[in-house]
Amino acid sequence: MKEVKVGLVGLGFMGSTHFRIHNSMPGVKVVALADIDPVKRTGDISSVVGNIGGGDNSQPLDLTGVQVFDNGFEMIEKCDLDMVDICVPTVWHKDLIIAGLEKGIHVFCEKPLCRNLEEVRTLKEKIAASKSFINIGMCVRAWPEYDAAKKILDSGSVGKVLTANFRRLSPRVHGNSWKDWYLNDELSAGVAYDTHLHDSDFIRYLFGRPVSVTSIGLRGAVTKDTHDHIFTSYNMGDKRFITAECGWCAAPNVPFEMSFQIVCEKATLKFDHSGFHIYWNDGKIDTPDTGDPALPTGWHRELKYFTDCVREGVTPDKFQTPDSVIDGVVIALTEINAADCGKTLEIEYV
Ligand SMILES: NC(=O)c1ccc[n+]([C@@H]2O[C@H](COP(=O)([O-])OP(=O)(O)OC[C@H]3O[C@@H](n4cnc5c(N)ncnc54)[C@H](O)[C@@H]3O)[C@@H](O)[C@H]2O)c1
Repeated sequence: MKEVKVGLVGLGFMGSTHFRIHNSMPGVKVVALADIDPVKRTGDISSVVGNIGGGDNSQPLDLTGVQVFDNGFEMIEKCDLDMVDICVPTVWHKDLIIAGLEKGIHVFCEKPLCRNLEEVRTLKEKIAASKSFINIGMCVRAWPEYDAAKKILDSGSVGKVLTANFRRLSPRVHGNSWKDWYLNDELSAGVAYDTHLHDSDFIRYLFGRPVSVTSIGLRGAVTKDTHDHIFTSYNMGDKRFITAECGWCAAPNVPFEMSFQIVCEKATLKFDHSGFHIYWNDGKIDTPDTGDPALPTGWHRELKYFTDCVREGVTPDKFQTPDSVIDGVVIALTEINAADCGKTLEIEYV
């Protein structure tokens, strides 16, 4: 099997998660790594904290045979890579994506795609002009329970959707990232963008393009001035009642929650701490098999799929296309504006 050579930028929560996943898969190898932090460049990830996934970070990662750099641009320029995997704070995504595309290698970049609409427009052009494959880490689309819900809805077995609610509630993010960048308004863009984006994007993936959004938000509760909590109602142009809520203000010991309830004509699909179940209107409860224990998370599934596509030279289109990811970004940015101006805003897709 041809080996896919990966260059990884950033060895924090997502970077160390991706490092382990890549190196656990046959035919994939992280051959180069770039991180601004000299401690991470030794493989020491003892400072890394994440909301889910929880690997043992007390043991250093084995970087034997890995070329190590202090910045991603030099790594992309100097190394013989099939793909770059970008896991640094969002503010650097755009330039690293462009560097990868211009080198002619494939690009996997963690979400969010980039910081703002101007960057979205630049990237849309660069992606369209490139022959390289690109996927963004919208892992919820590939997350077993969310993927299963989509398949059930698409099958028509539960009837039409009446209401849907998605929740993503995190304990506060102090002290869990490089230089606390999630709390830095210049580097992150707040919970409404960084974290809530997963659900805005999934709603787009599941139900199509919302026409407008009505949002309320709380700014500056734990960050200086970004949204720390947001609630949105999505107008789908029909009677479906679709809402989502996200926040990262809770006490540090509150467990992370990602959950949904989708009420349909014949049954309700529900995912929460008790698992994923179908509650039929006649009282029956099903617990669907959500997939392959070897690929337990959306991170495993999206990376396995993308690296398989890179190896086989097949354009990835199973979980996402660049345009659908761009829609999710535009929706989330519109939600922020809607919360700020207190009005329902139409979404102007780019
Ligand atoms: N898909 C998901 O479920 C998910 C979950 C968490 C984070 N993320 C995303 O992943 C990205 C990284 O977040 P994280 O939680 O891993 O952050 P983190 O703070 O844990 O890790 C960031 C890493 O990047 C390094 N770094 C910072 N600036 C750099 C630069 N200019 N060049 C090279 N290295 C640099 C830091 O030293 C650190 O090792 C963000 O875009 C975030 O939104 C996605």
